[in-house]
Amino acid sequence: MTVSSAPGKVYLFGEHAVVYGEPAVPCAIERRARVTVERRDDDRVRVNADDLTLDGFTVAWGGEGGVPELDVPSNLVEAAMGYLDGAVEQARDAADAPAAGLDITIESAIPLGAGLGSSAAVVVAAIDAAARELGTELDREDLADRAFRVEHEVQDGEASRADTFCSTMGGAVRVRGDDCRRVEGVDNLPFIVGYDGGAGDTGELVARVRALRDEHRFATDTVEAIGDLVREGETLLRGSEAPLDELGDLMDFNHGLLSALGVSARSLDAMVWAARESGAYGAKLTGAGGGGCIVALDDTEGAKTALDYTPGCEEAFRAELDTDGVRRES
Ligand code: PMV
Repeated sequence: MTVSSAPGKVYLFGEHAVVYGEPAVPCAIERRARVTVERRDDDRVRVNADDLTLDGFTVAWGGEGGVPELDVPSNLVEAAMGYLDGAVEQARDAADAPAAGLDITIESAIPLGAGLGSSAAVVVAAIDAAARELGTELDREDLADRAFRVEHEVQDGEASRADTFCSTMGGAVRVRGDDCRRVEGVDNLPFIVGYDGGAGDTGELVARVRALRDEHRFATDTVEAIGDLVREGETLLRGSEAPLDELGDLMDFNHGLLSALGVSARSLDAMVWAARESGAYGAKLTGAGGGGCIVALDDTEGAKTALDYTPGCEEAFRAELDTDGVRRES
């Protein structure tokens, strides 16, 4: 039996602008997906997921095929199966064991579809655990690349490398196009995440920003301004000790610029303001926007308590920077 876990992520800075070649800084967070893999005697793959916010489901495929009856929406199950199917294929390919059967159990503490990189974390941990169960240890570059290929295929070519790279490597990461690297020396950022229970449609929101840019000069300038503040943020992060107050200010500016691009939402603004008014260093939406999560920087209990009492905030939790990335648990 082999167990690997991998973290989710938030964007400290730069979502949306990264689509136009500006840099972005996603950060891995201490909220993990944990995948247990055990080799089977036959060629079937069986998946158990009691903890994926999917109300629990068990599916089996391969071998004789056939999917048992499920009591969760089939699109969610299809998506989950697509990611796992891809992860199994990558692990079989890496281990040169094309017909290996596997029992896979997934436990995840990362809300699904909320912009926190839950699918990337599951794919990274699944490929790592399955490859090791089949006798092969992948190096991190190879693992990140294989996980990206799975996301790329399941998401019809729309996936960026940010989530899979960040989940594999951990820490703060600088992404520009296909160029992803760790920002070394950043080992502590006190994140609080607020989650409204919903999710924005990433494709639709990206298309909306693109249309705004085509029509208005201010939107092009806004994207460039986000790029400028990401570069400022990177300089702060590379200093000997990242100043939380200055990083927080940049997060506030970044949220304002994302609002100007039309991707915030009332629930996100309410959570951002609740966190700021409670004394957080800064707060912004994270990911595509439209709904989902905000991230605040706060090393006290203030922001979490304020979010707990904010109407529309379904869940608030502390999620410190994760510096490990993928972890081999056993
Ligand atoms: O919501 P997420 O975590 O999928 O992030 C989307 C980030 C965007 O910059 C809006 C799109 C992208 O592919 O980079």
